[in-house]
Amino acid sequence: MQIFREKDPLIQAIQKIKSEGKSVGLVPTMGALHEGHLSLVSNALQDSDQVVVSIFVNPTQFNNQEDLEKYPRNLEKDLELLQSELNDIWVFAPTAQDLYGNKILSENFDFEGLESVMEGKYRNGHFDGVGTVVKRLFEIITPDKAYFGEKDFQQLQIVRKLTEKTGLPVEIVGCPILREESGLARSSRNERLSSQNRQKAAFIYETLQDVKTLFGTKSAEYIHEWVNDRFKDHPTLELEYFEIADSSTLKKIEKKEKGNNYRAFIAVYAEEIRLIDNIALDN
Ligand code: PAF
Repeated sequence: MQIFREKDPLIQAIQKIKSEGKSVGLVPTMGALHEGHLSLVSNALQDSDQVVVSIFVNPTQFNNQEDLEKYPRNLEKDLELLQSELNDIWVFAPTAQDLYGNKILSENFDFEGLESVMEGKYRNGHFDGVGTVVKRLFEIITPDKAYFGEKDFQQLQIVRKLTEKTGLPVEIVGCPILREESGLARSSRNERLSSQNRQKAAFIYETLQDVKTLFGTKSAEYIHEWVNDRFKDHPTLELEYFEIADSSTLKKIEKKEKGNNYRAFIAVYAEEIRLIDNIALDN
């Protein structure tokens, strides 16, 4: 494993392997690595000659200063995990200044409406921040493929739109959600949950599984109400939003159309910790 703390030596190393005809796969992360990240890395290792894992807590995608400050950071532990699980990967762990220069600011993107629903609606400017850092990483690392988890399904669609609009020649690979034994989607934020709340948060995926069953026979309107009722009196979990949307446009479902693919999306607070999840409804 090789660790790059600055972009210039990494750019040189990548130029060298690319001149040898080798392919590069990128797994962008904000650290606090878990099994979900490792599964992205193992997908990348299967079809790229050189895998780069970036570890950078990107300030421009946080709309809440406290959330940014409390985001778990432990580079040493992350490196240990990557070292013990998998060999021969390059880690890019830059400073904000190296990545952004003196102005830590987002670009403004038009993702054709993908950015203004769900996460975009509740986290103002979030996807401009994600777009800015992902574009920057793609420019520096020039990966042939980049791997993103489906847990952040809206982010995945936005990154696809980013490559389409910028023309950056990167293939975006979406990887399935990894879950804890209880069903809770793996996330770096789970570390901040008490062990009791971590168990209770399994209710989120249980709800999504029931939604998938109901979607076979009930209208979206009915399901919406059913989910709201389920969370109304929950002692620990507070529902922020629940949506059923078209998987590619992310537009809220009006009426089920044959041939369209739909997903259910949810955001929930367990005390002050925000958890998101989603499920495909058609398979
Ligand atoms: O999904 C994440 O961890 C982040 O949003 C990403 C893609 C690494 C950009 O900072």
